[in-house]
Amino acid sequence: MLTRLKNAKDISIFESVGQKSRNPTHKGLLRESRVGPEMSPNSEFPITVTYRGHSEVEESPIRQPRISPDQDKWDSLCNKKESIELFEHVSLMTLDSIMKSAFSYESNCQTDNDNTYIRAVYELSLLTNMRIRTFPYHNNLIFHLSPHGFRFRRACRIAHLHTARVIDERKKLLQTEEVMEKLKQKRHPDFLDILLCAKDEKGQGLSDEDIRAEVDTFMFEGHDTTASGISWIFYCMAQHPEHQQKCREEIREVLGKRDSLEWEDLSKIPYTTMCIKESLRLYPPVPSVARELAKPITFHDGRCLPAGCIVSLNIYCMHRNPKVWKDPEVFDPHRFSAENSADRHSHAYVPFSAGPRNCIGQNFAMNELKVAVALALKRFVVLPDPSKPPLKLPQLILRSKNGIHVYLKKAS
Ligand code: HEM
Repeated sequence: MLTRLKNAKDISIFESVGQKSRNPTHKGLLRESRVGPEMSPNSEFPITVTYRGHSEVEESPIRQPRISPDQDKWDSLCNKKESIELFEHVSLMTLDSIMKSAFSYESNCQTDNDNTYIRAVYELSLLTNMRIRTFPYHNNLIFHLSPHGFRFRRACRIAHLHTARVIDERKKLLQTEEVMEKLKQKRHPDFLDILLCAKDEKGQGLSDEDIRAEVDTFMFEGHDTTASGISWIFYCMAQHPEHQQKCREEIREVLGKRDSLEWEDLSKIPYTTMCIKESLRLYPPVPSVARELAKPITFHDGRCLPAGCIVSLNIYCMHRNPKVWKDPEVFDPHRFSAENSADRHSHAYVPFSAGPRNCIGQNFAMNELKVAVALALKRFVVLPDPSKPPLKLPQLILRSKNGIHVYLKKAS
């Protein structure tokens, strides 16, 4: 059944405590295993955060994104006769960032294209999207027997072997008392430290398989989404040079001669932040989410849906609803000024979804977007390529069928 909900208040489905419903093909890749609130870190361990404890805002082990465009590589992309396709370069940059930030793993994948793990992760993303697009592949047996299924399993094995090795090495390291002491002093242990030290009330830790599943989930949810976000922001900046220039001036004023951002800088670039939010409105990296209703729901107009229904919410359309957004197709960052946002319903703008199963990495992601945009716009000007307009492709994440093409030149 297809039902159109026009009232933002009706989007209370987000608050439904029902199961998160995923595309069946997605389920296999990102197993639904969670360190829930009942699994709290060892009391001796000096952190207050649990993965889903919602205190992650301040205490997240990955609160500091370590994203930065590889200087030499991005310099070499400047002043090309042909426009460059951004998505692939940005994906490697965000993968590099999540590996460093969450697992303290120096991947160098922006330049080291030969890294087998990175290639496997890349292959898995591609094959997952292909599986979703190809209807017969929704059947497990057909996919299993197909050449793509074979490639998928091989890539899974490589990725799992690598994750298992990283986990094993860290486990061995944590066995020595000296290292454990040091970890206790660490203000921000990384995500892997937290998973390995997590214990339930009975003192039981996570199984190896659970830890690996969490690591895999973070790896995927944490890089493809931000790659989509950053690529579309650059596209918007290329389309709107006046806003791009305002951002650049703001960034240069804050950074001066510095080539990196301090924690405090993130709150000093409000115009850039508004542009990022406006881009996430027009091009939400996750274009839709789904829920299985745990209980019946009645909407404002009296229509209702029974428990057990799977409801898909189209974030892309919600963000372009003309009843909420004046001239919805127009890129206008001022929509996100404090005055203009004050009266908007909290569920009218949901790039990170809402409710109990919203995006766990949203603060990290917003910071990552700010850092990436600030560092790039400080050094480069992004120009549009009108001959290759992007053809939007809503998959698990919002991509472009023909890539996102822009020209880069060094900013004066
Ligand atoms: C611009 C970047 C991002 C966007 C737009 C985004 C958006 C989303 C959305 C819409 C969901 C689905 C929530 C739902 O179904 O209601 C989600 C889930 C999730 N995100 Fe993000 N995300 C981003 C970046 C990240 C990053 C950087 C991480 C990790 C560091 C991350 C980790 C997760 C995880 C683990 C989930 C699953 C949560 C659960 O099932 O409980 N995300 N994200």
